[in-house]
Amino acid sequence: MKRVFSGVQPTGNIHIGNYLGALRQFVELQEENECIYCIVDMHSITVPQDPKELRKHILDVAALYMAVGVDPKKSIIFVQSDVSGHAELSWVLTCCSYTGELSRMTQFKDKSRGKESAPTGLFTYPILMAADILLYDTDIVPVGNDQKQHIEICRDIAIRVNHKYKNTFVVPDGRFLKAGARIMALDDPTSKMSKSAENIHSRISLLDEEGKIKKSIMRSTTDSDGEIRFDLEEKPGVSNLLNIYSAFSGESVDEIVVKYAGCGYGDFKKELATITQEALVPIKKNFNEIRQSEELKNILINGAERANTIAEKTMKRVKDNFGLGF
Ligand code: TYM
Repeated sequence: MKRVFSGVQPTGNIHIGNYLGALRQFVELQEENECIYCIVDMHSITVPQDPKELRKHILDVAALYMAVGVDPKKSIIFVQSDVSGHAELSWVLTCCSYTGELSRMTQFKDKSRGKESAPTGLFTYPILMAADILLYDTDIVPVGNDQKQHIEICRDIAIRVNHKYKNTFVVPDGRFLKAGARIMALDDPTSKMSKSAENIHSRISLLDEEGKIKKSIMRSTTDSDGEIRFDLEEKPGVSNLLNIYSAFSGESVDEIVVKYAGCGYGDFKKELATITQEALVPIKKNFNEIRQSEELKNILINGAERANTIAEKTMKRVKDNFGLGF
């Protein structure tokens, strides 16, 4: 059995990019692996959060994990700040990483561009993420493409520590899906779909109403040549819609292109809207039930206990290998 770990930031507006790139994998992997899924609240405070909203979003993400099919009987679901090992290991790894490698992270470069000074937490974000992963002797990390560089630096740090000290960490692999690993914004297919974009029609949130879903897809940016074909360079908008269609329907992009040969964008978008609406119906229904249930917090308390048992063992090994304590 392999160990799987992944996390989602509780920053609201969880969208179909998060689902198709990551959450879908969470469900698939739990059948044959030991899975640990975290709500990474400490990552979310790298940018200022409203405390009340943050607490709400933490429970929202927990409920969404279950709404999409993560089963707390099979997988561990917990909140990052409930297990102190994350912060503890993060410091140890900070001492094993370099400002040069952190400066090369595109996410940091994007978020700090044009600013003389940026929050330290944004800079060290990848180290906390490496701590999340290494704390659980993780083999597989299911994520979207945007996390590739973060997985790479995690691997580099793990290998570096293993060389310098006794073999301490399992070196993890990222797991990326073909269709869905990078869902682009509907209003601008050159940038990825994001939770924080101002335009609500740039994304489809998992809890969006049917009318909103249709509106966002119908008004999505395409091009003027009218042909439905996959071409990331020339037709990024249509290609993005084809990817979403493929990920939700299970049909290959080639099959979809053949199916819509000679059709206009309008018909294609309408059917994509229907497929998307249908895929989200059960998620919304499950979410509303789970979010209101008394069980939710107990599941997180139990998850944190189970996660902590694993984390404590790793921290003992880390301290022994580094010579910390006595
Ligand atoms: P976050 O919260 O931004 O996103 C959660 C997951 O969704 C994926 N994702 C996407 N996939 C496809 N298309 C998109 N447009 C898209 N946008 C987001 C992300 O790749 C991610 O898998 N740093 C992480 C959270 C994290 C983590 C971890 C993940 C913290 N520690 C340890 C794995 C392991 C993040 O910001 O995810």
